[in-house]
Amino acid sequence: PEPGWTIDTDIVVIGSGIAGLVAALRARTAGRVLLVTKALLDDGSTRWAQGGIAAALHPGDSPEDHLNDTLTAGVGICDPEAVRVLVTEGPDAVRGLIALGTDFDRDGDGHLALTREGGHLRRRIAHAGGDATGAEISRALLAATKDAGIEVIEHALALDLVVAGGRAAGVTLHVMGEGQRDGVGAVRARAVILATGGLGQVFEATTNPEVSTGDGLALALRAGAEIADVEFVQFHPTVMWLGADARGRQPLISEAVRGEGAFLVDGAGERFMTGRHPLADLAPRDVVAKEIMKRMRETGEPCVYLDGRNLGPRIWAQRFPTILAACERHGIDPVNEPIPVLPAAHYASGGVRTDLWGRTSLPGLYACGEAACTGVHGANRLASNSLLEGLVFAERIGRVLTADLDAGVPAPSGAAGAPASALLDPDVRTEVQRIMTADSGVLRSGPGLDRAAAALAALADRRSDRPCTEAWEATNLHGVASLIVAAARRREETRGSHWRSDFPDASEGWRGHLVSVQDGESLT
Ligand code: SIN
Repeated sequence: PEPGWTIDTDIVVIGSGIAGLVAALRARTAGRVLLVTKALLDDGSTRWAQGGIAAALHPGDSPEDHLNDTLTAGVGICDPEAVRVLVTEGPDAVRGLIALGTDFDRDGDGHLALTREGGHLRRRIAHAGGDATGAEISRALLAATKDAGIEVIEHALALDLVVAGGRAAGVTLHVMGEGQRDGVGAVRARAVILATGGLGQVFEATTNPEVSTGDGLALALRAGAEIADVEFVQFHPTVMWLGADARGRQPLISEAVRGEGAFLVDGAGERFMTGRHPLADLAPRDVVAKEIMKRMRETGEPCVYLDGRNLGPRIWAQRFPTILAACERHGIDPVNEPIPVLPAAHYASGGVRTDLWGRTSLPGLYACGEAACTGVHGANRLASNSLLEGLVFAERIGRVLTADLDAGVPAPSGAAGAPASALLDPDVRTEVQRIMTADSGVLRSGPGLDRAAAALAALADRRSDRPCTEAWEATNLHGVASLIVAAARRREETRGSHWRSDFPDASEGWRGHLVSVQDGESLT
């Protein structure tokens, strides 16, 4: 349908996790800001983040050390300049969060309590509420957003970008239950900031909430923006195993539990990370996920176990109250028994490609947070670098917007047309999840990826004439899944979280990025 209403603003921010909220707060100096979000303000991934936010905040640590750990985890294809920005601006950005009211955990002397996670050689992860870091950051940022009087529309699914004169000039929205802005409408703006988060719902089991359906990636692709590194979907090694039929968002068991001393064992109680990597149970995430899958194949068991009995009741209660409660809900007592775990889809290391200031290849379109590919994650994101990336690069967009908009960007005008995409049937969602889990998950192969590509192509005819949220989400998931499979088929090597049984080693020739645009992809 044609847009039934139009709003004019200067900057529209899409998404309300750490990246969207920080971008909205910082962009105010450049003009009027409207924040739109698909569900409620805190329904995204940020509030589920447990382990914390990484930054060189300890006197014994340095941005250089953080840089090295990030580059190692990224297996040769991080953009070192972007990582340098992340690690050098990170500590001040975290102090900025504290100034805004975020209450991080402190030790007995009042210093920030810092923990370790996979791939970090130092203690550098700040946390809040024990294992409720994202929830605390979200609380503080939402309070700041409210105090700042930023205009918000909830229940607003972004449909397509409005592109005029080769620039992003707004977005069409489908809004539900928000009074006079109900139904399909358009926001005309001089700049659009995508902060729509991840795409974990492409798979059957994920740590991501229901709303993580790759909407930003899909709409950026439809608008012709460059997308990079989508084959690198990170699987978190330790997600609670709830049986073979478990679907949707699964309980995460933070790497910080291993950071505090827990370790992985198989069903016979044997440790299997020792001797596999110098950091053993705290090896980078891709290494641990692969070892878990290998051990599951060897034993024929459906999961492995995380043994945290050595932490004792006090640490469990004080440091990991969220995880303890989740275990109890599922009848597990981690103080006295190992937790059944296995890898599940967790984080999109790739996304909409940006420069160091969050600018995408489409003028007027910016991206930050999980939706973006700034180049800091390479083939495998380092633990707890994601909240930091959202924070640092959202701030950078805020800093550069004034100059960008002053460089002669016209006020919004003209009519926004109807969103152009052909919609798929909502049932396509579960089909996509089944296909991706079977053939494009943690372990991939050429024949499996061919099968996935054919199965996804066959779904493209399952059209819907009902323009509802479910149809848009299914369409976006299908578009994003097809892109992941295309990139995964192309990349004939194993690197980071892209694991091919038919190409088990990394290859120098693939030390580059697969960049996708609407009509194909290239290697840079
Ligand atoms: C965790 O707490 O293990 C997740 C942290 C992250 O994904 O960076």
